[in-house]
Amino acid sequence: MQELEVCQRQIEEYLAGCFAGQPAYRALYEAMRYSLLAGGKRIRPVLTVQFCRALGGTAEQALPFAAAIEMVHTYSLIHDDLPSMDNDTLRRGRPTNHVVYGEGLAILAGDALQTAAFEQVLSASLPAGRCAAAALILARAAGPDGMVAGQVLDMEGETRELSLEEITDMNARKTGCLLEAAAQMGVTAAGGTEAQLRAAREYAAAIGLAFQIRDDMLNITSTREEMGKSVGSDAQRGKSTYVAHLGLEGCARIVEEQTARAKAALAGSGMDSAFFCQLADYLASRDH
Ligand code: IPE
Ligand code: IPE
Ligand code: MG
Ligand code: MG
Repeated sequence: MQELEVCQRQIEEYLAGCFAGQPAYRALYEAMRYSLLAGGKRIRPVLTVQFCRALGGTAEQALPFAAAIEMVHTYSLIHDDLPSMDNDTLRRGRPTNHVVYGEGLAILAGDALQTAAFEQVLSASLPAGRCAAAALILARAAGPDGMVAGQVLDMEGETRELSLEEITDMNARKTGCLLEAAAQMGVTAAGGTEAQLRAAREYAAAIGLAFQIRDDMLNITSTREEMGKSVGSDAQRGKSTYVAHLGLEGCARIVEEQTARAKAALAGSGMDSAFFCQLADYLASRDH
């Protein structure tokens, strides 16, 4: 997907310009950049940029919002890997942040990425109303009823077996919320309509569910080298996942269903859906 690669490159360039100074407390910037520039797939910021473009906006217009969502995502990964959470030592093919910088700086790097994200959104060169709307979308998605709530449910799932309904809710919050916010922030950057916001959200919710289930499948079928993070860890920690309930085949069926739901969500929205359909297929069949 050439369009995906072009978009990923634009995002990398923008992020590379962030926290590039050398203040007295440069160890913080270094820890933030260590994780931010470690080369993730950039799916969330790609959604932001592409939804903005699909509505006639430019990539440049969307990049501050796109960077913001990636900063929140990166902060969530740094904290997710901490010894008190998933206790993982590899992320994006590198030792995790706390392994390199220590727990204190890793926590602070995550904190700083989160607040820097809101600075990005609120200082973007767009009409103030669009910036405020995007900040609200991001706050709701990342906050106590969004991603953080999903992380709490995930932790609970280590000590008791969650029902399929609870796992669906957990996945919707810990993974779906940020993907939905990413898509909606793209629509917001371009000044899209309420109906377009709803369509983008429905698309992202569907690919979000498929994405997390695919991730759980890869935790069993893929390798540490391919994923750039530990595998086999869900079963080891007794995590409640779709795979534990439905097996790999059942999961593959849901990924297919959700991918179809994602594509249907954009039909009739007035947005060119070709790129988004390709992206949904790519994510459903990804092997890292
Ligand atoms: C990892 O997200 C955490 C999940 C929600 C499954 P990604 O798979 O998007 O991670 P990066 O950004 O590519 O490293
Ligand atoms: C990470 O979920 C989701 C967030 C950080 C919000 P997981 O713990 O399931 O994902 P990996 O396997 O560490 O990427
Ligand atoms: Mg986790
Ligand atoms: Mg984890």
